[in-house]
Amino acid sequence: MTQDELKEMVAAEALNYIPKDGILGVGSGSTVVKFIQAIHRNHIKVDAAVSSSNKTTQMLQDIGIRVLDPNECEPYAVYIDGADEVNDSFDMIKGGGACLTREKILASMAEKFICIVDKSKLVTTLGKFPLPVEVIPMARGQVARTLQALGGRPVLREGCITDNGCEILDVHDFMIPDPASTERAINAIPGVVTVGLFARRGADVVLYATEDGVQKKVRP
Ligand code: 5RP
Repeated sequence: MTQDELKEMVAAEALNYIPKDGILGVGSGSTVVKFIQAIHRNHIKVDAAVSSSNKTTQMLQDIGIRVLDPNECEPYAVYIDGADEVNDSFDMIKGGGACLTREKILASMAEKFICIVDKSKLVTTLGKFPLPVEVIPMARGQVARTLQALGGRPVLREGCITDNGCEILDVHDFMIPDPASTERAINAIPGVVTVGLFARRGADVVLYATEDGVQKKVRP
C-alpha cells in the first residue's frame, strides 16, 4: 500500500469522529485534504468549522461548510489534524505545512485532539523530522543562534511565509527526549511565535493507518 492510500484510509476513518452538531476543528496538510474530500464524498453534515490555514478554509468553503473566526467561538468538542511525528506519549511534531501556530490555537480550544496519520509517523523519540519553529522575521538570526546553542541546526525554510506573515526555521539534527521541556524552552525565546512541538497539549486519540487497517491509540 502506498503512503497516499494509507492517508486515504485514516482520513475515511476520521469521519466517525465528527460531532453530530456543533463546530469541528480542521487542521492542515495532505491527510486533512483527504479528510475534507471524504466529508464531501460521503455527504457528511458539518454545522460549522474553524480552520488552521487559508488553504483549509478555502477547501471547506468550496464544499459549502461555514468557517468561523475562532474569536466568535467558545471552546468546542473535536479537532482533527495530521502530524509529522507522534511518540508513545501522544506528543507530536507538527508544522511541516507551516500552519503550526493556528493549529496550536485550535488544538488548545478543543476538548479532544484526534490525530490522523499513517504508521510511518509513529516514532519512539521525536526529532528525526526537522522541528519547525515559526519566527518573527526580524528575530530570525537571533532565534537561529539560540536554537543552535540548544544543540540544533536551524535552516530557514526558503520561500515560505506563513499565513501570519512570519518565517519558519526547521531545526535539523535535534532529537527531543523531553518534548514538554523543549517546547517550554523554545517558546521562551524572544521572537518565536510558536514551536511545532505539541507536548503540553498533545493528541487525545491517535488513528494510524497500517496495511491491516486503521488502528487506534487513546490517551489513558
Ligand atoms: C501542517 C501539519 C500537518 O499536519 C503535518 O505536516 C502532516 O502533514 P501530512 O498530512 O501532509 O503528512 O502540521 O502544518
